[in-house]
Amino acid sequence: MTKDRILVIGACGQIGVELTLELRKIYGDANVVASDLREENPLLKGTGPYVSLDVMNKEMLHVQVIRQNITQIYLLAAILSATGEKNPHLAWSLNTQSLLNVLEIAKDENIQKVYWPSSIAVFGPTSPKINCPQQTIIEPITVYGISKYAGEFWCNYFYHRYQVDVRSLRYPGLISYKSEPGGGTTDYAVEIFHDALEENSYTCFLKEDTYIPMMYMPDAIRATIELMETNADKISVRTSYNISGMSFSPKEIAAEIKKHLPEFTINYQPDYRLAIAESWPQSIDDSVANKDWQWKPKFDLSEVTIDMIANLKKKLKNNFI
Ligand code: NAD
Ligand code: SER
Repeated sequence: MTKDRILVIGACGQIGVELTLELRKIYGDANVVASDLREENPLLKGTGPYVSLDVMNKEMLHVQVIRQNITQIYLLAAILSATGEKNPHLAWSLNTQSLLNVLEIAKDENIQKVYWPSSIAVFGPTSPKINCPQQTIIEPITVYGISKYAGEFWCNYFYHRYQVDVRSLRYPGLISYKSEPGGGTTDYAVEIFHDALEENSYTCFLKEDTYIPMMYMPDAIRATIELMETNADKISVRTSYNISGMSFSPKEIAAEIKKHLPEFTINYQPDYRLAIAESWPQSIDDSVANKDWQWKPKFDLSEVTIDMIANLKKKLKNNFI
C-alpha cells in the first residue's frame, strides 16, 4: 500500500493552519507538506515540511507533487467574497485556475484524493433563505460565488470523466482564533471578538438582524477529515456538500459576548458587504451530508463565545495578537 503523502496548498490561511496541524497529527508530521505563496505561518514553523508555492504555476506545482511523492492534495488557496468584489478578475482567475491545475495534475499523476472547499456563497437571492437544501435554485451574485459554483461542476466533471476522487464541502462562515480570516464577509464574527477584548466595542459592517450560517473551526476541520475518510461509495454528492453549524445575527452574537464582557457595545455602519451577506441563505439544510457520512456539528453560539474569549484572552496575555 502507498504511504499517504499530503500536500496542503494555501496552508497559511485561516483554515490551512489548523487543517495542516490536524492532518499532521493523523498522518505524521513529515507526511504533510504545507505550502503557500506567503511566508510560513509561525504556528506551522517546526511542525513539518514547508514549501513556497504559487498554485497558479502549474509546472512548479507538478514538480512538487512528483518530488514530494504526493498522494492527496488539499487546495485551500482562494480569494474570498469581500476581497473578490474589489478585484473580480483576479478572484475568478485564482479560484478557477488553481482548481483546474490541481485537478489536471491529480488526473495525470493518479492522485488518490483531492479536497477543495466550496462555500455557502454559491447560493444567491433566489435560493431559499431558511434551511437552504442541497439541490435548489443557485444564482450567485458575487464573483466568489460564481467561481465556487463553477468549481463545484469542475469537481463533478473530473470525478465522472476521469475518476478523480475529489471531495468538497460548502463551508459556512468560519469562526476561529488561531489564524486570521482572509477577506470574507463572515469575518465580522471573528473581528467582533478581537474588538470586544481590545476595545470593548465593535463597529459592524452588517445590520443587526443579518443572519448568516456559521461554524466553529473545530467542527469545520472535523467535517473535512470525516468527509475525506469516508468510503468513496458512500459519497453521493460530487459537486459539494451542504454542511451546517449554527446561524445568528450580529445582535445575537453581541448579546452573547455581553454576557461575558458586560461593558461591550456594538454599533452598525453597513457597507458593500451587507448586500453580499443578504444574498446568502440564513440557514442551511445538511441532511444529505448527515445521511451519507453522518455529519453532525458540535458547537453552538454560546460554546463558541466561551471558547473564543478564553483563547483570545490567553493570546492577548502572551502578546500573540
Ligand atoms: P485564507 O484567505 O485565509 O487563506 C488562503 C491562503 O491561500 C492564504 O494563506 C494565501 O496566501 C494562499 N494563497 C493565495 N493565493 C495563492 C497562490 N497563488 N498560491 C498558493 N497559495 C495562495 O482563506 P481560508 O479562509 O483559509 O479559506 C480556505 C478555503 O476555504 C478557500 O477556498 C475558501 O473559499 C474556503 N472557504 C472559507 C470560508 C471561511 O469562512 N474561512 C468559508 C467558506 C469557504
Ligand atoms: N467566509 C466566506 C466569505 O465570507 C464564505 O465563503 O467569503
